[in-house]
Amino acid sequence: MRCLATLLLFFLVTALPWTGSASEEPVAQEEEHVITLNATNFHDIVKQHPFIVVEFYAPWCGHCKNLAPEYEKAAGILKENDPPIVLAKVDANEESNKELASEYSVRGYPTLKILEDKGAIIRDYKGPRDADGIVSYLKKQVGPPSSEILTAEEGQKAVEEADFLVVGIFKSYDSEEYKTFISVASELRSDFVFKHTVDGSFLPKKDSDISVPSIRVYKKFDEGYSDHKEITGEAVKEFLRVVSIPYVVLFNKDPVQREYLAKIFDQPDDAKAFLFLDANDTSDALKKVYGDLAKDLTVKSIRFMIADTEDGQNAIQYFGVKKENLPCILIQDKNEKKYTLEKANTGNIASWFKDYLDGKAPQFLKSEPAPDKNDEPVKIVVLDTLDEMVFKSGKNVLLEFYAPWCGHCKNLAPILEEVAIELQSDPSVTIAKYDATANDIGDARFDVQGYPTLYLYTATGKVVPYDGERTKEDLISFIQTNKGSLEQSVNASQTISEADAKDEL
Ligand SMILES: *[C@@H]1O[C@H](CO)[C@@H](O)[C@H](O)[C@H]1NC(C)=O
Ligand SMILES: *[C@@H]1O[C@H](CO)[C@@H](O)[C@H](O)[C@H]1NC(C)=O
Ligand SMILES: *[C@@H]1O[C@H](CO)[C@@H](O)[C@H](O)[C@H]1NC(C)=O
Repeated sequence: MRCLATLLLFFLVTALPWTGSASEEPVAQEEEHVITLNATNFHDIVKQHPFIVVEFYAPWCGHCKNLAPEYEKAAGILKENDPPIVLAKVDANEESNKELASEYSVRGYPTLKILEDKGAIIRDYKGPRDADGIVSYLKKQVGPPSSEILTAEEGQKAVEEADFLVVGIFKSYDSEEYKTFISVASELRSDFVFKHTVDGSFLPKKDSDISVPSIRVYKKFDEGYSDHKEITGEAVKEFLRVVSIPYVVLFNKDPVQREYLAKIFDQPDDAKAFLFLDANDTSDALKKVYGDLAKDLTVKSIRFMIADTEDGQNAIQYFGVKKENLPCILIQDKNEKKYTLEKANTGNIASWFKDYLDGKAPQFLKSEPAPDKNDEPVKIVVLDTLDEMVFKSGKNVLLEFYAPWCGHCKNLAPILEEVAIELQSDPSVTIAKYDATANDIGDARFDVQGYPTLYLYTATGKVVPYDGERTKEDLISFIQTNKGSLEQSVNASQTISEADAKDEL
């Protein structure tokens, strides 16, 4: 097992409302209405019900236990609904059901999925967790995915009620555009409220006329509405994906902002831009310029956030931004490469964003300062000393990439120390550790997806990943088998220096 190295985990674990980890004993309870599924009967039973909700749970999960009586009560009410709504559950913690849980991308407990059309349509349940809430949410999910607006009063009311409303305006309901709209609505109805009409005059005009056919969203942020004319499934979904998050999202404790942040971090293909500020910096001019850029560039798949030294402290630490360089813009692209503009001001940010888009902004890599003392058996390497202590050392360096919070790394620490002491008499070997949360790696030869990750960088310049057991014996035998000799290393290090010179970071 390794500890996962993901940005999302680091920032947002507390923002994901459904992720439970309490470990109490399971409580026995009476079950009548909720159907229990398992890997054997799952697909058969799903095929028998046009609309079925499946809860993936774990017996030890506290949130699941809180949900159980409410879910059961809702199941009793909903089975009488016309058309019937069936509630089911799967113990995703049970070994034989784990494949099923992975098929449905279950990442936390409880996870609820709505399955329709014999399981062909799969949607996330995003409703409340009390019985009444579950009932009213699911009743809305089972009818047609979009309802018609027939009067100006209905139009006005729909716009007022929904935080985010999607309206399709069509010449007729026989059109291809309407069919496309309905199929997008079926897919995304748990995210948004959909309505349609053949008369645009039923809708608030805002400051722009409504064309036909088109899709207009009314949102309670930014300009208050956005229009879209290209009605293909992909284009409509992309439009909704872009406009459903404000141009600028704030790192703060507001649950609405946290929900938007969770959405942003759920979209791996978007670049993420941060404006980092001192919490005492009250000037709005920079935020204004940043906001204007956000409005222009969000469609280029960049999401914009603002974090200050109070509410955004974790993010600022995570990226290793120094206080004296604030205000600072940082972009993390989809390949997790980072670019920064330190001491940002209203005069330099627009041209810096242009450089970034043109591929001209230099990459940013963070490093801890080299330690003053480094005389323990296991040496400390930071990004700034990686070259000197590893690549150009001419030695065989066993390098552990770790995170301070990772339990598996803590277990490994005394073992590594024993290995280092045992091999102290061999001048060609160094055992070292690298805090990969405080230092970027910046070298594609080290692929660190989790902690701890171990590599041997040999005296001859080979990079050998370690996949063995984390025991003293196995580690020593791995080093002995793979190490290069010091004589060979002289030439090897020359070759590396040349390569380095060409490939400066
Ligand atoms: C699944 O549930 C059915 C019905 O309760 C039972 O007959 C079957 O043995 C279960 N299968 C597994 C793998 O537990
Ligand atoms: C902001 O200023 C106050 C008072 O001057 C100070 O106590 C506080 O630490 C400052 N906060 C930050 C984040 O610099
Ligand atoms: C190292 O390079 C020198 C000349 O640069 C050469 O004479 C020698 O054989 C090389 N040694 C090894 C081990 O390749």
